[in-house]
Amino acid sequence: MTALPPRQAFPQGFLFGAATSSYQIEGHGFGGAGPTHWDTFAATPGNVKGAETGARACDHYHRWAEDLDLVAAAGFDSYRFSTSWARVLPEGRGAVNPEGLDFYDRLVDGLLERGLKPALTLYHWELPAALADLGGWRNRDVAQWFGDFTRIIAQRLGDRLWSVAPINEPWCVGWLSHFLGLHAPGLRDIRATARAMHHLCLAHGTAIGVLRAEGVGNLGAVCNFEHALPAEDSPECHLATRRYDAIFNRFFIEAMFQGRYPEEVLEGFSPHLPKGWEQDFPTITAPLDWFGINYYTAKRIGPAAGPWPGTAELPGPLPKTALGWEICPEGLSHLLIRLQRDYTGATPLYITENGMAAEDRLRDGHCLDADRIAYLAAHLQACRAAIAAGVPLAGYYAWSLLDNYEWAEGYSGRFGLVHVDFESLQRTPKASYHAIKKALER
Ligand code: FCB
Repeated sequence: MTALPPRQAFPQGFLFGAATSSYQIEGHGFGGAGPTHWDTFAATPGNVKGAETGARACDHYHRWAEDLDLVAAAGFDSYRFSTSWARVLPEGRGAVNPEGLDFYDRLVDGLLERGLKPALTLYHWELPAALADLGGWRNRDVAQWFGDFTRIIAQRLGDRLWSVAPINEPWCVGWLSHFLGLHAPGLRDIRATARAMHHLCLAHGTAIGVLRAEGVGNLGAVCNFEHALPAEDSPECHLATRRYDAIFNRFFIEAMFQGRYPEEVLEGFSPHLPKGWEQDFPTITAPLDWFGINYYTAKRIGPAAGPWPGTAELPGPLPKTALGWEICPEGLSHLLIRLQRDYTGATPLYITENGMAAEDRLRDGHCLDADRIAYLAAHLQACRAAIAAGVPLAGYYAWSLLDNYEWAEGYSGRFGLVHVDFESLQRTPKASYHAIKKALER
């Protein structure tokens, strides 16, 4: 069986962590949290497998201490988690739910007591329904609403956080949710997408400004990337791949680091962006202390008939995970080297998510997820290759600590290092958890 490269194979001080997000694990039915657009999206037939919601999820809301014990016992240095906007502000604005804020306060203290660095993401997708009613990410005011939420979190937790990123994977919040319609709010509209994507950038920059003003440090961003490859060596495939890559991989990082949007995206977005969008770049380019990369897979791209962007995702030859995602660790080294060269320079990089879905089952109380161990080993080796090539990669977070609510896949896409029985809610560390624990020994 493949072994994971040990901690000693990485530079001194390289950080290892596990990642989760609020709606996917907490149980949004508890503690006075307000309704979110994920609840309503899931309540609409056909959007989520089995119409499952995050109402109970892993019940982390009540079991957080046991879960943090698992993080600490594995030998991780840090824990990446998120705050639910609707738990803290049930209406998205206005009155705070004190129970919600207290929950995150205890969680942060619980992390520090266990010697874990709290790595916070402010928004990991559960927009309060009351704000969705006002147009959600399509409404420019969302940047201000998000700034206000950010200030509340900063004032309560800011003195104890190790790092903060405003928005998890803006591509998913923008394109996947407003153009492809596969995540909440489930729109398929180019104008909604252009505006949402611009407002995401503006909200990101606004939040960074608020955090700096509140004296919170070590601020970054977390974006997702795919290794985009032409399905065939034809001019049409190359053109489609360039466009796909601009939308997926370049839009947000180019906005944040270079203060512009890629030409290939403006081809489609220009008529739809909100008036005066160019004037927002001074806010959007607020300097960052680090940049986070979520990486899972490669994509084979070809042309498609129809209006812009005219791209199609085609099947590739490599082995796939349980969700059909191609396993391509070399893609990670490629991306790291490319992003550092073209955008981030000397800014420290972190892998803020990486992992795989598998059909994990318990047998006699054990879960032997050898495929996940091989996946993690190959991707950690890809990190080492990038470091050897000079990339200032400073840490790696595995997605995810627990099996959880995998969005439109419901509870079927199991990504955890720890198996969760969604009936009894019992946690059972998988073989991958034990392998990481061994690799992290000092
Ligand atoms: C990422 C999300 C995370 C999880 C993984 C599998 O896109 O950030 O919440 O769903 O994919």
